Amino acid sequence: MIVLLVSCLAALLCPSVHSDGSSVEWCYHKPTCNFTTWSQIAPQSCNGSSQSPINIVTASVQGNPNLTSFNFAGFDDKTSLMSIVNSGDSVVVSLDDGKMTVQGGGLPGVYNTKQFHLHWGNGSLSPGSEHTVDGKQYPMELHIVNVHSKYNGDVAAALASKDSTALAALGFFIEGTNEQNKTKSWDILTSFLSRIPSSGNATSDIMNQITMDSLLEGVNRTKYYRYQGSLTTPNCNEVVIWTVFKDPFKASQDLISEGNSVINRFSTTTFFKSSPLVLMTNNFRGVQPLNGRVVTSQPSSASSSAATSTISIITVLLLSSLCWL
Ligand SMILES: *[C@@H]1O[C@H](CO)[C@@H](O)[C@H](O)[C@H]1NC(C)=O
Ligand SMILES: *[C@@H]1O[C@H](CO)[C@@H](O)[C@H](O)[C@H]1NC(C)=O
Ligand SMILES: *[C@@H]1O[C@H](CO)[C@@H](O)[C@H](O)[C@H]1NC(C)=O
Ligand SMILES: *[C@@H]1O[C@H](CO)[C@@H](O)[C@H](O)[C@H]1NC(C)=O
Ligand SMILES: *[C@@H]1O[C@H](CO)[C@@H](O)[C@H](O)[C@H]1NC(C)=O
Ligand SMILES: *[C@@H]1O[C@H](CO)[C@@H](O)[C@H](O)[C@H]1NC(C)=O
Ligand SMILES: *[C@@H]1O[C@H](CO)[C@@H](O)[C@H](O)[C@H]1NC(C)=O
Ligand SMILES: [Zn+2]
Repeated sequence: MIVLLVSCLAALLCPSVHSDGSSVEWCYHKPTCNFTTWSQIAPQSCNGSSQSPINIVTASVQGNPNLTSFNFAGFDDKTSLMSIVNSGDSVVVSLDDGKMTVQGGGLPGVYNTKQFHLHWGNGSLSPGSEHTVDGKQYPMELHIVNVHSKYNGDVAAALASKDSTALAALGFFIEGTNEQNKTKSWDILTSFLSRIPSSGNATSDIMNQITMDSLLEGVNRTKYYRYQGSLTTPNCNEVVIWTVFKDPFKASQDLISEGNSVINRFSTTTFFKSSPLVLMTNNFRGVQPLNGRVVTSQPSSASSSAATSTISIITVLLLSSLCWL
């Protein structure tokens, strides 16, 4: 158990997905190091041209027939969640990448699933997702981080690769609903937060409690956006194939509302690193310029009917030009 915790902490402190070992002191909450400064204080990639997150403009999304369904392995296995850690800038759950993999979904190969973590705002009134859709920011966003199997689980090597397909990140929005009793697993997950208030605190008691699937219940994982981007924390490496699912995960409103909400629990229980008295809130990066990148999704019936009507217009034009002959 101690060995496990030590190795989780080592994984956290050594080059990791969330922060790739840069000595740069970056933050979310101080004017000297918040995300508006990252392109200056961490220019290695944060000043790049394929940065994440982005605002997804649905009217500009293009149909892509390659975006088939995913195969998720180990997402139904209660032993896959190994520990929950306060990383100082998020809450990170380490996943067993020997059991959990993602493939399909138009990804070039098999990816081993390393961890998930969350981004949030300040309670339910101040949203904190990273991606936005037509300018809408959701209350929270969950990121599952996966590394291409050719790196054998070595995230540092994947980050150093400059290979634009080295990582595959899966983004899920979280929002409130009036439907009841949808959040049992989230109750269990958030029950561990009071045990990890400070940066570096960790517990492996989360094992055998919940599955990844149960945290994503109700999200139709065949409908998603795809684009090429980066880590959303320094050094912002541009090595990430992003998948952002359209359906938000719906947490019961009684848990979202003031007092006893899933989202409030995140923003009232954990503290930032290097500011041990500052509650961890608004741990998201603002949206970045697209710079010509294209966001794709499953071809919709709307776009095929648009294609059909284009064909009919062409037919009408052809027929009318025949009449002129
Ligand atoms: C970030 O810091 C800048 C000053 O560097 C400040 O103007 C801005 O309001 C801050 N933004 C956030 C989101 O904290
Ligand atoms: C970003 O900053 C790095 C380091 O200063 C520099 O080498 C690179 O050219 C910059 N990239 C862009 C796109 O400005
Ligand atoms: C679909 O995949 C093929 C083969 O990898 C590729 O050539 C093509 O550009 C992809 N289509 C889109 C819309 O990305
Ligand atoms: C978050 O909300 C609480 C309660 O509404 C407020 O006291 C606090 O100042 C807010 N924190 C930030 C960083 O806005
Ligand atoms: C929700 O669960 C609680 C306790 O598990 C139960 O008392 C309540 O009736 C349930 N509500 C609905 C709407 O199913
Ligand atoms: C959490 O971390 C703090 C600061 O390092 C430490 O003092 C405390 O004992 C830790 N608490 C637990 C429950 O591990
Ligand atoms: C998910 O969405 C697809 C496409 O709209 C639909 O065919 C399928 O039935 C949905 N699955 C579930 C479980 O709702
Ligand atoms: Zn993230």
